[in-house]
Amino acid sequence: MTDVAFSLNGSHVTLSDIPPTRTLLEWLREDRGLKGTKEGCNEGDCGACTVMVSDGEGSRALNACLLFLPQLNGKALHTVEGLSGPDGALHPVQQAMIDHHGSQCGFCTPGIVMSLATAHLEGARDHDDRLAGNLCRCTGYAPILRAAMAAESHPVPAWLADPGGNVPEPASVGSDAVQPESADDLAAWYLANPDATLVAGATDVGLWVTKALQHLGSVAFLGRCRDLQQISPVGGSLRIGAGVTIAALREALTASHSNFAEFLRRFASEQIRGAATIGGNIANGSPIGDTPPALIAMGARLHLRQGDARREIALEDFFLDYRKQDRRAGEFVEAVSIPASTPDLACYKLSKRFDQDISAVCGCFNITLEGSIVASARIAFGGMAGIPKRARAVEAALLGRPFTLETAHSALPAFASDFAPMSDMRASAAYRLEAAQALLLRHVHERLGTPVSVLELEAGA
Ligand SMILES: Cc1cc2nc3c(=O)[nH]c(=O)nc-3n(C[C@H](O)[C@H](O)[C@H](O)COP(=O)(O)OP(=O)(O)OC[C@H]3O[C@@H](n4cnc5c(N)ncnc54)[C@H](O)[C@@H]3O)c2cc1C
Ligand code: FES
Ligand code: FES
Repeated sequence: MTDVAFSLNGSHVTLSDIPPTRTLLEWLREDRGLKGTKEGCNEGDCGACTVMVSDGEGSRALNACLLFLPQLNGKALHTVEGLSGPDGALHPVQQAMIDHHGSQCGFCTPGIVMSLATAHLEGARDHDDRLAGNLCRCTGYAPILRAAMAAESHPVPAWLADPGGNVPEPASVGSDAVQPESADDLAAWYLANPDATLVAGATDVGLWVTKALQHLGSVAFLGRCRDLQQISPVGGSLRIGAGVTIAALREALTASHSNFAEFLRRFASEQIRGAATIGGNIANGSPIGDTPPALIAMGARLHLRQGDARREIALEDFFLDYRKQDRRAGEFVEAVSIPASTPDLACYKLSKRFDQDISAVCGCFNITLEGSIVASARIAFGGMAGIPKRARAVEAALLGRPFTLETAHSALPAFASDFAPMSDMRASAAYRLEAAQALLLRHVHERLGTPVSVLELEAGA
């Protein structure tokens, strides 16, 4: 059991002796009677439960169904009930949704409005991306997008000007649910409690509880370890703390690692990216996690910590077998390092939907040329094996040869040496193998100047 303090629509709330894995959505609807926040999928896909969570760093639209209450400790929460002004005046995005007929069933509308209000607060204009995590199956997105654009020119209402202000001091938490304040605290506690579950963004762990009905036992919430949330240059590399969210990473790397940052736009949705961390994506060890293939192609180094002992390994050596990683009892991911720039990196994600979908196949290429000759090649794939894996035979087939379509075609048989993919609901083994080969051809076409991205093609081009 644990205690939590946060502000809810401007008023302080302190909860004592709550189960640490009670979700915010359950609490809002069942305990607090705030039913404007809807339950659609209860697994992060539909956005009906979107709320605004703010702190000194800013505001994020997050899914209440994947937030455990302790993750709110010391933060400010706004739900749809708190979006209009004290006198009942509507928020500009609410008014615009009415004016532009942006709502029909009303079930998804509260979540859409919360996403739009959070984007409005930040002056964001990337409405497609901001709404990718909010499903609407009846209205269609055109009226919603028109509403988002209409609200752009309206100022942030005074009652939402400082959504992260007026937060209470965080409550202290119980011994079976700790919230360490630093990596040092976490290291000492985890060494003494190696069977505990670490919870970072809870976008994976949340589903273990809500879908698989697992009891987590002792839990450490990592969200208050600010020192794990830093990105810092170290020598010729960038050290990315395990607690850096995908959203923060994407923002920080837009200039220096533009291809990687753009690829991260395809990672889930705004709501998931605002919570999910790079450390969770790596430590989870999923064969279809998006960041590991990209990081492996970059030559990333993983920083692991057990108590005061630290070790550094190549990221590709961390993944041993399906869901089996090179991680010792009480050891956690502290950071991952990538080169300060990766001009040759290209990442491609294939999934059934463009937005908010898990990869069927993800291919990442980091090929350097000397003149027209392949001087070095690091290629890694997700979705092609039980782990994110390097394509060493393909790399060898390219090395030292001219970077041409002919060379790429001659390297295609090597894919079958590197990978024996499986069939599942996302794709068949045959599709995966052929698609991976096609991604190499696509990459070569792209580097040789042929447009390959559907986003960049126009009719008649
Ligand atoms: C709707 C939805 C869409 C998704 N889409 C994508 C997608 O497009 N691409 C993708 O790759 N993933 C996707 N995911 C999966 C998930 O968002 C990612 O794996 C995410 O990066 C997990 O990070 P987290 O911080 O939420 O981890 P958590 O859920 O908190 O933890 C995940 C695992 O990592 C462990 N862990 C966390 N931090 C550490 C640490 N520092 N050291 C050691 N262990 C640690 C936890 O104990 C747990 O085992 C999606 C999930 C959902 C629900
Ligand atoms: S209920 Fe669907 S994302 Fe939370
Ligand atoms: S308004 Fe509810 S599905 Fe579109």
